[in-house]
Amino acid sequence: MATRYVTPLREGGSLPAVMEAEDLGTYVVKFRGAGQGRKALVAEVICAALARTCGLPVPDLVTIEVDPAMAPGEPDQEIQDLLRASGGLNLGVDFLPGALDFETGAGTVEAGLAGRIMWFDAFVGNADRSWRNPNMLLWHSSLYLIDHGATLTFQHRWATAASAADRPYDVADHALVGCRPLVADADAHLTPLLTEAALRAAVQEIPDEWLAGEPGFADATALRDAYRAQLRARLDARPAWVPPLVAAAAEGLRPGSGSGRSGPGGGHFDSGRPGRPARPAWLAGEDSP
Ligand SMILES: Nc1ncnc2c1ncn2[C@@H]1O[C@H](COP(=O)(O)OP(=O)(O)O)[C@@H](O)[C@H]1O
Ligand SMILES: [Mg+2]
Repeated sequence: MATRYVTPLREGGSLPAVMEAEDLGTYVVKFRGAGQGRKALVAEVICAALARTCGLPVPDLVTIEVDPAMAPGEPDQEIQDLLRASGGLNLGVDFLPGALDFETGAGTVEAGLAGRIMWFDAFVGNADRSWRNPNMLLWHSSLYLIDHGATLTFQHRWATAASAADRPYDVADHALVGCRPLVADADAHLTPLLTEAALRAAVQEIPDEWLAGEPGFADATALRDAYRAQLRARLDARPAWVPPLVAAAAEGLRPGSGSGRSGPGGGHFDSGRPGRPARPAWLAGEDSP
């Protein structure tokens, strides 16, 4: 149970908040009443479990009860509305005190780890790991992945979900495209970890309350099974999306390879400094040593 609303976090779009809870923990609470509602929380839970299976660090998650009666105590109307719309179970992400937002270009991510993160993002269809908004935190010198609400987007249209399984993943704006991500290695290492048991365990973590009432599904068990089957289909469709991913990741490294693509992060990387991580051209001149 949340006991105190400490402060809103306005970096992202969903207006999460730092809250204190009865267990004396401090959590970043992501509210069921925000934009994409419970489905964003479902995606967070599934992805955190799968990330852990893949050995990728994510903060611990809990479910946290929010009492809408807290709303009147908040001066901000938008926050009041969100609290009122979020009665019941919400998602608590263990707050990492003093964590820094990872900034593309400011640091380097080892090629193996970058490859595993990029492969994982392609697997779950993460639309929210761009260089503008990497959704990665640096805490005690380690990288943590956060904010997986904009993944598994098939869940917003179950009728067409099957056609999403082999969809290619666009890495043009990915936060790590300049880190020489070893995507083929990641594919070889991570695929065997994502066993049927791992997929089942991941969907088992979703609270029933977030699965209730989905049209076309008899109960939470049926809906959990649809998520599991969709993840299985995505893995089975690797021949369709892994080779283009490997090619796109390699393309991101070639200087001037961005022709045909527009905008920052479109593949223009300055690799002219041997021994240094490739650096996006749009950062050239900024914070140069
Ligand atoms: N567990 C955490 N510990 C510390 N800071 C966090 C944590 N989770 C999120 N944040 C901060 O809050 C911001 C917004 O959180 P995020 O999960 O990305 O929400 P949104 O869906 O609104 O983008 C992040 O960019 C980060 O700065
Ligand atoms: Mg975010």
